[in-house]
Amino acid sequence: MSVMQTYKRFDLNFVQGEGVYLTEKSGEKYLDFVAGIAVNALGHSHPVIVKAITEQAKKLIHISNLYHDDNQIALAHKLVSLADHHAVFFTNSGTEAIEGALKVARKYGKDKGKSKILYMTDSFHGRTMGALAVTGQAKYQEPFAPLIGDVVEVSFNNREDFLAKMDDKVCGVIIEPVQGEGGINPVDPEFLKTIKEACDDKDALLIFDEVQAGIGRTGTFFAYQGFDVVPDVIAMAKGLGGGVPIGALMVNQRADVLTFGDHGCTFGGNPLVTAVSRAVVDVISDEDFLEAVKAKGAYFKEKLLPLVAAYDYIKGIKGRGLMVGVTIDTEKMAPGTIVSEAIKHKLLIVGAGKDTIRLVPPLVVTYEEIDEFMVRFKNTLEALKPQA
Ligand SMILES: Cc1ncc(COP(=O)(O)O)c(C=O)c1O
Repeated sequence: MSVMQTYKRFDLNFVQGEGVYLTEKSGEKYLDFVAGIAVNALGHSHPVIVKAITEQAKKLIHISNLYHDDNQIALAHKLVSLADHHAVFFTNSGTEAIEGALKVARKYGKDKGKSKILYMTDSFHGRTMGALAVTGQAKYQEPFAPLIGDVVEVSFNNREDFLAKMDDKVCGVIIEPVQGEGGINPVDPEFLKTIKEACDDKDALLIFDEVQAGIGRTGTFFAYQGFDVVPDVIAMAKGLGGGVPIGALMVNQRADVLTFGDHGCTFGGNPLVTAVSRAVVDVISDEDFLEAVKAKGAYFKEKLLPLVAAYDYIKGIKGRGLMVGVTIDTEKMAPGTIVSEAIKHKLLIVGAGKDTIRLVPPLVVTYEEIDEFMVRFKNTLEALKPQA
């Protein structure tokens, strides 16, 4: 095997996709509630994406950031206006968006003599050395220590712990509004309010990692719009390109501190990916589309809820919009066993954190497809029942 073995892969090889279905080499179709790990927001082979790729590929794919490009300008303008922010820097991935956000915080604090960055337990911000340093999960960090310094971990949703660690030396606080990899854990709005007030009080930047929760996933275009707090910096990726690699960090006026030569990215926001992202963002930012995500998310949770009473190892249903988690009692059932069994029922799902099954279907999923999910998921759970 010539591919480096950093992923434990399932024995599946997909050759085609349409909507929420993927077709395997064998010809069998799978219902996809993973969506490339919350990436394929418009599903597979969406005509809007296919059109944007083919039309743009005929014109121009890449020019570097030495020159202007109308797609990049228009996309930046659209994102800024959706958030009432100030400026955007384009990257190729989520982890690079986080790297940029950390550099913004460090530069913001430089002249003020501040360099400390606070991050949360069970967070996930990416695999590069900076993002890893603020990822509150020892298993990802330990093999690569020492990481960047002056970063301090705070217990997620723990106000006292946060206030004990927040001081004048802090230049930035980074948090996911809904933790994704950590197990679909929404932030407590009161905790968020405390952080926002403290950031303003101590002159630190509030950074939201919306790589997984942003771009319509939780039922608002940006996840922060579902909370009563506006961050200074927003990192995004995943759904932003609907499948093409694009990420971004966006800053408000006060956080607009990176100037000529401070940062760069050869591929970042090239004409191809920004053309696609423009098309994707146009679809997702539509109010009716976002309302539908909310309504489908509520319907999905309502359908899942009876499972808590029906299966003794299902402890609860959580999440926002179409970012949904099923909490498993791991003393009774391993989440990985459910994920593997689901494949036998032609259903793709993925774990998150220590005890959660994560359900992040394409945002275009229909009510009928949610019903179809319920049939396959229940069949999966029934098959795992001990035989009498
Ligand atoms: C919240 C969050 N931040 C950052 C990342 C890293 O993104 P990428 O894998 O695109 O580098 C992820 C990836 O899962 C994520 O969920």
